[in-house]
Amino acid sequence: MTQSVNKLVSVDKPLLATLNGIQQKRPPLWIMRQAGRYLPEYREVRARSKNFIDFCYSPDLATEVTLQPIRRFGFDAAILFSDILVVPDALGQGVSFVENEGPRLPPLLVENNLSELKDSIDLDRLAPVFETIGRVKEALPKETTFLGFCGAPWTVASYMIAGKSTPELAPIRLVVYRNPEYLTRLIDLLVDSSIAYLCRQVEAGVDALQIFESFAGALTADGIEQWSIGPIRRIIEGVRKRHAHAKFIVFGRGSGANHVQYATKTGADAVAIDWGTDPHWAAATLQPLKPVQGNLDPLAVVAGGDQLDRRVDGIIEAFSKGPHIFNFGHGIVPETPVAHVERLVKRVRG
Ligand code: CP3
Repeated sequence: MTQSVNKLVSVDKPLLATLNGIQQKRPPLWIMRQAGRYLPEYREVRARSKNFIDFCYSPDLATEVTLQPIRRFGFDAAILFSDILVVPDALGQGVSFVENEGPRLPPLLVENNLSELKDSIDLDRLAPVFETIGRVKEALPKETTFLGFCGAPWTVASYMIAGKSTPELAPIRLVVYRNPEYLTRLIDLLVDSSIAYLCRQVEAGVDALQIFESFAGALTADGIEQWSIGPIRRIIEGVRKRHAHAKFIVFGRGSGANHVQYATKTGADAVAIDWGTDPHWAAATLQPLKPVQGNLDPLAVVAGGDQLDRRVDGIIEAFSKGPHIFNFGHGIVPETPVAHVERLVKRVRG
């Protein structure tokens, strides 16, 4: 019964239909970081808020920038404008962003035993995010799938421990070896926080959820289940206890052959792949298991021209035998000319 309701709903929304395993004539399309600095209208709104985290907590501004790429390009999905680091912020670890550098958090200290954090996530702090979801939902065309998201615990914990972006994640990788019990407690707290946060996103009106494991590539083979796959599976199971039909896309960036584990062991409905993954391998190995999302190199779109067309065609062709969501293999970069995105959209739409 519910299955058929799901399918009825998804008839209107090509991307949701794809998540249900129904292949579309042309793949539905959206772009990670589609609301961002490559858009002049984003830069204009962004300039009204000094602090990026305040921007995320301003329903007027966040609603506007969520809708901008839908208006301009008619993408098949809108993604909530927010950031994965609102979760540590709502756990009491103040987050700020330094222009052109990235996030800053007061690094957690192992000897403090998590006393810097609240025992559970303060969802009141995130009320503006839920308000944004309600407003976007009202404004979206009925065929557009609305995506909520969170970071996976390993990725979010890496920022909480290092306090900033770290290319090789040395701080959290050392904690794996020196203080695994501590890291287990932090990951558990993030699992519970993410379940509560994502449930509220669903209740506020998103259609599906993406979990970003941006640093899957920094896990050792013997750590991936404990620190990444297991926690993601617990989040998905936890959300489905309250929302049995919640749909998930999981993005284990840089995970290579372990993309298979993200497809089979997390409970996700679709697996997103990074630009370093061979589409032919993914079509043969992952697509029989789950719909695949990806995986154009963002820099191919900065460069544009004929090579862009060939790459777009190559990805569409590789995934033409099963359900596929066209996307980039990581976020669009600020230098991307809008005209190149227009060219890409035309090419994907055919
Ligand atoms: O359009 C969308 O995709 C929705 C909004 C969104 C943002 N961040 C907005 C943002 C989403 C889904 C994210 C996810 C996110 N944030 C991830 C996972 C995806 C990935 O990129 O691997 C991570 C690791 C972060 C953490 C983060 N946020 C960093 C490292 C930075 C600084 C680097 C940068 O690109 O500037 C941010 C800032 C941020 N988040 C911006 C945007 C549009 C740019 C800040 C600005 O506009 O001033």
